[in-house]
Amino acid sequence: KPHRIAVIPGDGIGTEVVPEGVRVLEAAAKRFNIALDFTDFDFASCDYYLEHGQMMPDDWFDTLMQFDCIFFGAVGWPEKVPDHVSLWGSLIKFRRDFDQYINLRPVRLLPGIKSPLADRKPGDIDFYVVRENTEGEYSSLGGRMYGGTEREFVTQQTVMSRIGVDRVLKYAYELAQSRPRKKLTSATKSNGISITMPYWDERVKEMAVKYPDVATDQFHIDILSANFVLHPGWFDVVVASNLFGDILSDLGPACTGTIGVAPSASINPEGKFPSLFEPVHGSAPDIAGRGIANPIGQIWSGALMLEHLGHKEAGAAILTAIETVLAAGDKSVLTGDVGGNGTTGTLGRAIAELVAGG
Ligand code: NAI
Ligand code: MG
Repeated sequence: KPHRIAVIPGDGIGTEVVPEGVRVLEAAAKRFNIALDFTDFDFASCDYYLEHGQMMPDDWFDTLMQFDCIFFGAVGWPEKVPDHVSLWGSLIKFRRDFDQYINLRPVRLLPGIKSPLADRKPGDIDFYVVRENTEGEYSSLGGRMYGGTEREFVTQQTVMSRIGVDRVLKYAYELAQSRPRKKLTSATKSNGISITMPYWDERVKEMAVKYPDVATDQFHIDILSANFVLHPGWFDVVVASNLFGDILSDLGPACTGTIGVAPSASINPEGKFPSLFEPVHGSAPDIAGRGIANPIGQIWSGALMLEHLGHKEAGAAILTAIETVLAAGDKSVLTGDVGGNGTTGTLGRAIAELVAGG
């Protein structure tokens, strides 16, 4: 039975990098004998909004429920539609309604990319940030009182449910267990946040017992952030609440160079709902339409998708091809952000050829 993939390019460079991502996925599918069935959609884009007055058709949920995964480009074009309208009308709906409670971002230094951290080589930085994506600090419980007076105040509550915390920890432990180093680091702040964070720590402790082969440690979020920069080699799998994970999942990729190469996944691990795979970057209106966007973030997101679908070897082959092309350093192939003068297409095709050829 083929894996059914909904392809949603979205806006701007999303429409330029997604075809390269699909090209590479098709090459991997052919070589590893995987059946992928792609269907393209034009909604979740600002042009769709201008035509229909909404970001997506009313039946978007039922339509996308027919798919195993969503292969997404980027959404947003502030000159056409305000960002809060475009993002809340598409991506945020996916995350919530499809219960994509894991946000996963690899942090890996690739060859030929200069880390802003001094003296780092590929191999020195290679870990994952696993962010809880549905509750925690991003609840809408709270309120405002005495508006406009001296007594004015606001509150907003953090929500941690046992189910919500345990399911993200379980995912992170299983990921750590599948990796050679088998190490899990928990982001906490139980010295300052005295109710929710000690609860998080307690759940970590209990979960750790079930994974005796995984080494567990924890850091308070402040020193953990410092250690991302000072000692990125310490980490293997880092698990964090929604807010802490949001910050770490931008800081991590920032330590490994250009935004054009970073991938991300929003996952519903049980497969009850479709999971979504997209580059970290947005629609980049400043370079859109010129064919110079780096497609690696999109292509690497495709590798994450294959791994999620159980095709580890195929995902690894894509990552190897990306690294090989970057290490070769052919300027006529690479895009400008990684020191070349090639195009989205030259870079995408070079990676696809390597994936196809083995
Ligand atoms: P952006 O990520 O689109 O661009 C930031 C900078 O990085 C720009 O200078 C851009 O040229 C460069 N850049 C981004 N991707 C690149 C690539 N593949 N190759 C080479 N250079 C690249 O962020 P920005 O400008 O803040 O947002 C633009 C729009 O994208 C907004 O509407 C924003 O809301 C949306 N956005 C959407 C996201 C998503 O769909 N998940 C994520 C981030 C932003
Ligand atoms: Mg963010």
